[in-house]
Amino acid sequence: MHVHRYERWWMALGLTMLGVFLTIITVAAVADNINPPGGMQQIDPTKVASTPPFDRPGLRHVAGNTYEAYYVAQVFSFTPASISVPLGSTVTFYVTSPDVVHGFFIANTAINMMVIPGWVNVQSHTFRQRGTYLLLCHEYCGLGHQNMFAKIEVQ
Ligand code: CUA
Repeated sequence: MHVHRYERWWMALGLTMLGVFLTIITVAAVADNINPPGGMQQIDPTKVASTPPFDRPGLRHVAGNTYEAYYVAQVFSFTPASISVPLGSTVTFYVTSPDVVHGFFIANTAINMMVIPGWVNVQSHTFRQRGTYLLLCHEYCGLGHQNMFAKIEVQ
């Protein structure tokens, strides 16, 4: 079978690119330890309201300036709607949803999560500036999406 010269170059280029990309992915996974999220906590989305700790969403003081905040994101609100922590607090946010996919974004921080029914998502932040931080749903979740927000007071 005759393969045109340009066709051969094109196939060689494709195979070379495939090799380069596979090498980059392998190096990132092995050397840089960049992997898809693993070990995420699962939850039955139909039983969020009766599954601890989401049966009592809210702020928990762990020790010193360390807190845990458990949130339920549900059309079209976050529970708790407001929490207050002292300046310098490190808060670990746990969030889940009993209904649809929501977003969990705290303005002026690096907290940016998707809230997926059946899963508990987790991220931490240390609040080094006083003020009121806006927690927003940034995944379109229905007609009241734009009203879905909460507040975090840092005093
Ligand atoms: Cu919840 Cu948008």
